[in-house]
Amino acid sequence: MPRPIMATVSIPAMQHNLQHIVSGLQEEAQMWGRPAPKVWAVMKARAYGHGLAEGLAGFAGADGLAMLDLEEAQACRDAGWQGPILLLEGFFDPEDIYVVDTLGLTVSVHGEEQLRMLELARPRRPINVNLKINGGMNRLGFVPTQARQAWQRLQALQSRGVVGELGTMMHFSRADDDPVVTQSQLSAFLDVVVGMPGPVSVCNSAATLTAGLWAQLPEERQQWVRPGICLYGASPFAARSAASLGLLPAMTLEARLLSVQDCAPGASVGYGHLFTAERPTRVGIVACGYADGYPRHAGTGTPVVVAGRPTRLLGRVSMDMLAVDLTDIPEAGVGARVVLWGEGGPSVDAVAESAGTVGYELLCALAPRVPRRIIHASENGSDFPRFQETTE
Ligand SMILES: Cc1ncc(COP(=O)(O)O)c(C=O)c1O
Repeated sequence: MPRPIMATVSIPAMQHNLQHIVSGLQEEAQMWGRPAPKVWAVMKARAYGHGLAEGLAGFAGADGLAMLDLEEAQACRDAGWQGPILLLEGFFDPEDIYVVDTLGLTVSVHGEEQLRMLELARPRRPINVNLKINGGMNRLGFVPTQARQAWQRLQALQSRGVVGELGTMMHFSRADDDPVVTQSQLSAFLDVVVGMPGPVSVCNSAATLTAGLWAQLPEERQQWVRPGICLYGASPFAARSAASLGLLPAMTLEARLLSVQDCAPGASVGYGHLFTAERPTRVGIVACGYADGYPRHAGTGTPVVVAGRPTRLLGRVSMDMLAVDLTDIPEAGVGARVVLWGEGGPSVDAVAESAGTVGYELLCALAPRVPRRIIHASENGSDFPRFQETTE
């Protein structure tokens, strides 16, 4: 029997989340009397740890897919995806441009080196480009004073047939927690892109879910939003739960109890004895540890659900095991089901918060050794080509 731990990835949940985001955008668009933005479903990091195949099945209804690696883009094309694919960091090397050309990808151009590579390239067909503006994140992109010159060089490439559709993009640094900063980044972006026609793309999940934000962009431009985390059923906001946003968890991590220890007051649990019982305490040992991707920094009190009942983590997470409090769940014995996060358990965001991190990190860090079960769409679901199912 395999070790009793399992991650379930729900494609219907991903489909629900995408549809929920699209419906929200459509409602807002109707309110503003303008077209709804198109959606790049962000699938980098192997669809935020859910698996590329699973992301593809979940987001087959998106207008386009956004990712980082040529290898990921190639896999999507091989699986039959014919729609747009955006490389969020563009290409890394002149040879990549050949693959971009062959696969028909849209690229972000965020720096001088990429511009030079493109100026030397001879693609067989024009490459669609999003000029990336550095809106204050200071990570990638042309600062406003350099952006116009970069745009002109791309326009020159467009007239030579090297560049196809030319648009602009930007990434907010605080859309999740600071509307004032976000608004000023948006205003600065709007100033920069005057006279730069073409599609625009600025909104990650937090910005997409912030009412009225995308609608400030010029109406005549085709707009693309770029939600990632919300499509997987986690929240981009510290203070708003995914459930309150109408999202469903796409990943559930569960395991079983391997052992039960009765600890008398004064007895301690786990490495470092970080938890010491103050009353007679029933301790369950769960087949999940940091080598499975559960955060080692989650401490006593982190929420967990055992046999359908909410309880808490105790002490330090080990490589392969962690301890939970069963004192008030007397019916839970060896073999009882433990939901670490996801459906029927705490949200991944709640666990992440206890560990001083974000749901993104936990989802992306699910270890390859954890067997995965994939819930596919029901019979009447999409007939989009599937990858080989992941073995359990
Ligand atoms: C350029 C870009 N766009 C969109 C996203 C999606 O962000 P989120 O997962 O917060 O929606 C990311 C993620 O980091 C990104 O780097």
